[in-house]
Amino acid sequence: MNKVVLDAAHFDAQARRWDANPVFRERAERIAAAIRARIPLNRAMTALDYGSGTGLLAFLLKDELGHITLMDSSAGMLAVAADKMAAQGVTNMTLRQVDLSADPPADETYDLICTAMTLHHIRDTAHILQVFHRLLNPGGWLAVADLDREDGSFHGHEVDVHHGFEREDLAALARAAGFADIAFDTVFEIEKDRDGVRHRYPVFLMTARRY
Ligand SMILES: C[S@@+](CC[C@H](N)C(=O)[O-])C[C@H]1O[C@@H](n2cnc3c(N)ncnc32)[C@H](O)[C@@H]1O
Repeated sequence: MNKVVLDAAHFDAQARRWDANPVFRERAERIAAAIRARIPLNRAMTALDYGSGTGLLAFLLKDELGHITLMDSSAGMLAVAADKMAAQGVTNMTLRQVDLSADPPADETYDLICTAMTLHHIRDTAHILQVFHRLLNPGGWLAVADLDREDGSFHGHEVDVHHGFEREDLAALARAAGFADIAFDTVFEIEKDRDGVRHRYPVFLMTARRY
């Protein structure tokens, strides 16, 4: 069976109704709270929200950071973020349409890289963690929120994504990329009906540091 790829066009098509989903909004709030609990944010920090989508997470954190770059491969997602920036008069955000798994790393470095529900869409996990490490300033923080290992029913078995992550495996990849102080919290649980059965999908936050 040919697998379905969730490409930028897929996210472009979802962008305008993304923020209307209360589960997505609550998930972002819980991830933001967990980031605040683990990482001492301050207005001198520069940050990257990778796979930012419409900026649900970035907008929650923007007043606690100096500058935040929203980076995503979907122009549609970034267009929604641009409208929100204009409506709210936000001046400390930049939008960049970039796929770090294919494009060369950007010409910026950051004190914090956060990424929410995006890692499972990126084929080469080891590589993207190495890119994140390169893009962090010494002392910088990484915050990855994603699904714990699941049976493939979250997106559907026909969809070509990682089926969540084993925390131990992800920690090992982060260590291999050069990260230290790796910690996990369970921050949220998504519920979905699949074939008449209620499934629960926990979401973790992994934090780590580049020295
Ligand atoms: C599930 S959405 C999460 C969006 C947002 N972080 C949130 O929590 O609402 C995944 C996002 O990752 C983006 N994405 C997927 N693959 C990507 C890649 N290789 N590079 C950059 N962004 C990517 C998609 O366009 C989408 O906006």
